[in-house]
Amino acid sequence: MDLIEKLYKLKKERNAVILAHYYQDNSIQDVADFLGDSLALAQKAKQTNADVILFCGVHFMAETAKILNPAKIVLMPDLNAGCSLADSAPADKFEKWVKSYPGNYVISYINCSTHVKAMSDIICTSSNAEKIVNSVPINQNICFAPDKHLGAHIIKKTGRKMVLWDGTCQVHIIFSELEVINLMNKHPEALLIAHPECPENILQYADFIGSTTSLLNYTISSDANEFIVATEPGIIHQMEKKATNKKFYPIPNLDGCSCNECPHMKLNTLEKMIAALENMKPEILIPEDLRLKALIPLERMLELS
Ligand code: 13P
Ligand code: SF4
Repeated sequence: MDLIEKLYKLKKERNAVILAHYYQDNSIQDVADFLGDSLALAQKAKQTNADVILFCGVHFMAETAKILNPAKIVLMPDLNAGCSLADSAPADKFEKWVKSYPGNYVISYINCSTHVKAMSDIICTSSNAEKIVNSVPINQNICFAPDKHLGAHIIKKTGRKMVLWDGTCQVHIIFSELEVINLMNKHPEALLIAHPECPENILQYADFIGSTTSLLNYTISSDANEFIVATEPGIIHQMEKKATNKKFYPIPNLDGCSCNECPHMKLNTLEKMIAALENMKPEILIPEDLRLKALIPLERMLELS
């Protein structure tokens, strides 16, 4: 039986829904029931009536779905799909850091572990970080983790002082500035769109900065016909589908590779999705006391979004 036919048959038998992030391989994007950025995926996970969520993204995203949906079975195609930002903040070091700033309000980017979420006052994503920071009373000191580049971008946007955790996304920090300049010279009509996980040396050239969903929406609504894309190139598949007849140029990384892909996101495959639904594993499991602690800052974020 053809792979996709097999996947759809299993999906029906298990009453499963397939949620996928835009950085997934095109073949996975094409079979997903819902595609979105981290915020939209968390919101969708909360709304689904399916018994099983097959989460095609990385570990912290599937964990978020489980925190919000304890009664559902949350499966991942590959449990090894991690994230350099989440890995940069181990729970023990994060706890020490938070304790060294007593009284600070702790805002954590959703790209972190359940343990880190449980020690945070509120969660944010790239699409609501500015709003979340602005919701904090002006005289309240803030700790922001784990992405220092997103943090620096939000400091610039809000004018708020924040103590930043020293974490980065391994994909967004290796775009070549030289290649950005080359592409801008080669395509003078193109607008540069960037994810806020990029460092300032890339963001300084951006015409628009936003989450994956807002970058996609911008390419659809903009009058421009060409875009230089400073984020993981998986999103270009949706841009080509939805902003038809427009051109998209991925930026090479510092090694000269023009496909600056997230190695974690790309661990997932159609074959592993089928195996996950067949075997009902790997499954995301979270101890209930930890889940309840992590739920509080996540729900605060969802209320504000
Ligand atoms: P978005 O929430 O913008 O999709 O970002 C998720 C991510 O991991 C970006 O690297
Ligand atoms: Fe994590 Fe970066 Fe991959 Fe997103 S692109 S999952 S932030 S390593």
